[in-house]
Amino acid sequence: MQRAIKTLTIFGTRPEAIKLFPLLHTLGGDGRFASRVCVSAQHRAMLDQVLEIASIAPDHDLDVMKPDQSLDQLTATLLVELGRVMDAESPDWVIVQGDTATAMVGALSAYYRKIPVCHVEAGLRSGNIHHPWPEEVNRKIIGTIAALNCAPTETAAAALRRENVNPSRVYVTGNTVIDALHWITGRIERDPSLAAGLADIEARFKGKRIIGITTHRRENFGEGMENIASAIRRLAQRNDVALIFPVHLNPNVRKVMNNRLAGLDNVAMIEPLDYPHFAHLLRLSTLILTDSGGVQEEAPALGKPVLVMRSTTERPEGVEAGTAKLVGTEANAIVAEAERLLDDVVAYGEMARSHNPFGDGHAAQRIADLLAGAN
Ligand code: UD1
Ligand code: UDP
Repeated sequence: MQRAIKTLTIFGTRPEAIKLFPLLHTLGGDGRFASRVCVSAQHRAMLDQVLEIASIAPDHDLDVMKPDQSLDQLTATLLVELGRVMDAESPDWVIVQGDTATAMVGALSAYYRKIPVCHVEAGLRSGNIHHPWPEEVNRKIIGTIAALNCAPTETAAAALRRENVNPSRVYVTGNTVIDALHWITGRIERDPSLAAGLADIEARFKGKRIIGITTHRRENFGEGMENIASAIRRLAQRNDVALIFPVHLNPNVRKVMNNRLAGLDNVAMIEPLDYPHFAHLLRLSTLILTDSGGVQEEAPALGKPVLVMRSTTERPEGVEAGTAKLVGTEANAIVAEAERLLDDVVAYGEMARSHNPFGDGHAAQRIADLLAGAN
């Protein structure tokens, strides 16, 4: 019998965990693989929420999160700690996802040991190394190193080929975020209690249209966050809407939002939701305001208009499909676009169509098959 392929999957934050659990479920149930998992725990509470719902028990937990940690310190600690794990495990493949510090350093550390890297969600590019910062450069570094680039869309694959990545190393697999969304939706259908924790807020806001909000991007810290808070305050003056805002644990987000939004009647500032509750919030929402990457992919799949509070996006597919719109971080623009959707039924109807430009829910199986064939 052939020896199982040993994979070491490395991740550290909430979105990586969400986008990797479908692949970990697939690898774990496939005899061709011996799957090992290392979490850096660049995030703690927000990572653990996902590990729990997806029943992922890491083999290594580096627990590197420190409050408001600098990128220097995070990067340096990760390089040393991930190197130790790689030496102990000697995997056939290292798997990383997306563009976080953990993903970039995981790829670099594998490269230092000549271990091939599989990059999940490869090829996203905004074309601006400062937006999103530092993710655009992180993913370019990973793209240079990866032996197997799993691009979610043809657009992403084309971006890699334009950067002279060998086309034989680039495959379009779809984005595992859609696999994750299908999985969690199925879980909630079978057990609605998994997403029942918003009942009090739903009762409080009965009869109002819900605007779901998330924000956390580093390039929006400072002025951008202040402007976003102003826009939320202005939208909260309408009595036909309520805003539900699970606030990211990054202190640069929380400080501003706590200062600017506390005590508003129709704004619920709440702790980060676990994945089933957040999926439920997306369903409840009439529209979404976000600067998140993952939410830009999930909202179109659910037919929810999403206003992206950024000046560029590496996910143009949602905009092209008509379900996402870039509105930047000026308060006037955010409020104007949100009010247009709230007050103009035709404009709303044009955006509120469900599309799946990011995948068909079978990305994890394609990636596993590629790994099996590529070894
Ligand atoms: C990170 C990623 C970003 C990703 C985002 C997803 C980098 C450079 N950034 O940004 O690409 O989009 O995660 O959310 O890799 N914190 C907690 N508990 C948690 C999580 C965070 O307290 O569970 C606080 C800590 O003070 C931590 C800070 O948030 O130091 C920032 O976390 P960090 O992972 O450095 O950056 P993010 O802004 O979350
Ligand atoms: N999410 C969640 N709880 C929340 C907010 C978001 O589970 O309170 C999920 C969301 O469904 C998406 C992911 O977290 O899959 C997005 O993470 P984030 O916005 O932190 O990072 P990004 O996608 O921008 O890297």
